Amino acid sequence: MRVCIVGASGKLGQYMVEHALDRCYEVVGVCREQSVGKLDAFKGRITVIPGATDDREVIEKAVAGCDSVLVVLVPRGIHGYSTGTAQAVLDHAPQGARLVFSSGWHITLDGKDVYSWKLKALVKIAGPLAKLARFADLDDQVEACRRVFASDTRWTLVRGSDLEEGAGQGLPVWSRHVGDPILESNKTRRVDFALFMVEALENDELVHEAPAIVGRQTPSALAHAVGE
Ligand SMILES: NC(=O)c1ccc[n+]([C@@H]2O[C@H](COP(=O)([O-])OP(=O)(O)OC[C@H]3O[C@@H](n4cnc5c(N)ncnc54)[C@H](OP(=O)(O)O)[C@@H]3O)[C@@H](O)[C@H]2O)c1
Repeated sequence: MRVCIVGASGKLGQYMVEHALDRCYEVVGVCREQSVGKLDAFKGRITVIPGATDDREVIEKAVAGCDSVLVVLVPRGIHGYSTGTAQAVLDHAPQGARLVFSSGWHITLDGKDVYSWKLKALVKIAGPLAKLARFADLDDQVEACRRVFASDTRWTLVRGSDLEEGAGQGLPVWSRHVGDPILESNKTRRVDFALFMVEALENDELVHEAPAIVGRQTPSALAHAVGE
């Protein structure tokens, strides 16, 4: 399998590169020019294409000949970086390619998610402040995901809970809606978020799903685990 990882130099991206190499996939990573050095540990084992992830020419080149694309969607800046990134991938990925995008729990596919006051406050207060500071635009990620959902591609959007570093605990568990009891612990190791993204490439049951994930060793996952 030839996989393109868009946003490969970030924390999530680097873990995804590791998981993909563990599976002997051929990896093409896209990252900003100034971040290429962050991928030095993988020198000689992956192809790096430097450039902004919302640069359509960069993405066109990177996804050529790929069976699948993993995309870190980040709402950085206020100029539609996430939306541009998602659209470039949707437009240029080869027909039938498996596309897996990342986001947070605040994205909803069907409006049936039930959010805690804490998450609502974060989106309502921190969101506008981040935009005011020109640091990030949560609406941009919302628009990017809306376009993914509306596309006729083989997409999955993986919605991460709060993240933490630490040794992997295995494949996170998931549910369709935030608010479901199994997700209550709201904590996932970043390395396992990456594992879920990479495993999703070969799991057709996740096509057109927006799984909200949580660490498999968290109390809520253990309390509500079924048949494992
Ligand atoms: N952080 C959380 O608690 C959390 C919780 C739930 C879900 N998520 C989701 O998880 C994914 C990864 O998030 P993360 O927080 O863990 O971050 P991350 O993996 O470190 O990724 C951050 C990405 O943003 C890029 N970036 C940083 N500054 C930028 C700028 N000014 N302009 C453009 N790109 C820039 C980085 O590229 P460079 O390497 O070039 O800097 C990197 O690809 C995202 O989809 C996020 O929505 C995060």
